[in-house]
Amino acid sequence: MNLILMGLPGAGKGTQAEYIVESYGLPHISTGDMFRAAIKEETDLGKKAKSYLDAGELVPDDVTIGIVKERLDKEDCQKGFLLDGFPRTTAQAEALEDILTATHRKIDATLYINVDKSKLLERLTGRRVCKQCGATYHVVFNPPEVEGVCDKCGGELYQREDDSEKTVNARLEVNEKQQEPLLNFYRNRGSLYEIDGNRNIDDVFKSIEAILGDLQ
Ligand code: AP5
Ligand code: ZN
Repeated sequence: MNLILMGLPGAGKGTQAEYIVESYGLPHISTGDMFRAAIKEETDLGKKAKSYLDAGELVPDDVTIGIVKERLDKEDCQKGFLLDGFPRTTAQAEALEDILTATHRKIDATLYINVDKSKLLERLTGRRVCKQCGATYHVVFNPPEVEGVCDKCGGELYQREDDSEKTVNARLEVNEKQQEPLLNFYRNRGSLYEIDGNRNIDDVFKSIEAILGDLQ
């Protein structure tokens, strides 16, 4: 299965991606994670991306499309993949379609997690992430058993730099502008599935499982 997870910042893409990857064994391609890793390693890509992530803006399309193309060409993506946070602009969606068509592939489902905007700020400012394995928690909605420590690997939890209230507002604004045309792009291709993401994490995943069960 070739899948896209779509939704505004904080909608729960990364959280649901962890469940999907565990249940369906798909390679997880998160452009946000790729940029953060590159920034940490201080690579050329990291140097290009840093100022955009810090400001909550989108990294330019040519840079983003380039890293996704390289990743999708790899052997482990030929039988399926889960894109998380890409595409985020119509230009990215068009480029993705070209990449897949050239290799006789297509998107089977675009899973759009729809969450009321009023909930997103609280979700993002309360998020904590494991330094070691990348697992995502929330101080109220999904707390670890021991405060500040990852349940899965014992790693230390930290707060993402772009989860400050100021940057969160910028991210929401930038992404909201792009979202409607993108949703229409996939609606027109008949691959868009809308999921009510206002419910708890397990219920959202049950809806995803129901959609994917019908696809297989
Ligand atoms: P990225 O890392 O993709 O950030 P984002 O899209 O802003 O999404 P988030 O990771 O913040 O949210 P999420 O939907 O994954 O939510 P999560 O599951 O963690 O991108 C970062 C930056 O990289 C961008 O700003 C941009 O600069 C750049 N970038 C990335 N992709 C790009 C692209 N394609 N083009 C250009 N630039 C790009 O959940 C959030 C919190 O809520 C967690 O604490 C979680 O525990 C909690 N939670 C989750 N689900 C629920 C639920 N159902 N109920 C209650 N709480 C919940
Ligand atoms: Zn961990």
